[in-house]
Amino acid sequence: MTTSTLAAGPTSARLGSLHGTVLELGPGAGGNLRWYPPDVRWIGIEPDAHRRSLTRREAARIGLSAHVLSGRAERLELADGSVDAAVATFVLCSVADQAAALAELFRVLRPGGRYVFAEHVAAPAGTWLRRGQGAWAAVTGAFGATCRPNRESLRAIEDAGFDVVELHRYDLPGPFGAGITHIAGVALRPAATRGISP
Ligand SMILES: C[S@@+](CC[C@H](N)C(=O)[O-])C[C@H]1O[C@@H](n2cnc3c(N)ncnc32)[C@H](O)[C@@H]1O
Repeated sequence: MTTSTLAAGPTSARLGSLHGTVLELGPGAGGNLRWYPPDVRWIGIEPDAHRRSLTRREAARIGLSAHVLSGRAERLELADGSVDAAVATFVLCSVADQAAALAELFRVLRPGGRYVFAEHVAAPAGTWLRRGQGAWAAVTGAFGATCRPNRESLRAIEDAGFDVVELHRYDLPGPFGAGITHIAGVALRPAATRGISP
């Protein structure tokens, strides 16, 4: 595995090297679209209608062929092994069921396919920051917020069966000057495990 503590700049390069059918979960307003090669077959799954329309507008603006679908990561209406690459940036904090979302991502990605990720993640267990993240998630969750800052998303990616082959960790300033840990990198669905063959 390649590791570094560099900031997330390389995410654009990772997206620029993808080919074939690319699935992006939770594209939001389509901020990643500009980085894809123009010949990818891009599918976005976005539950929010307003964000879907923003993504469609952005795709039209840059001339990318995009299928923006309503849905949720936890239940993908796509066949097993049907996408060549998957992308989710700042989405694992928001999905209702992280394990289900990652299991679905694993299922639809072809064996050997790449999953490009970027997420903010929980501070180390036992720190005051981690306790604060837990309290923040409980309070804001009670008011309907969906972003949970106390998730161990890297572990969840590995637990889903992905091999993390490139990992960058970096801190960005958060509330009260706290450094919020971010991760960005690439995971692979192993070529010959679990279910379908290449
Ligand atoms: C913080 S935004 C990130 C948007 C974009 N990926 C980015 O990097 O700017 C989280 C996105 O995940 C979407 N989302 C929330 N729950 C989801 C789910 N269960 N499945 C797919 N997307 C979801 C939200 O609607 C939103 O667009």
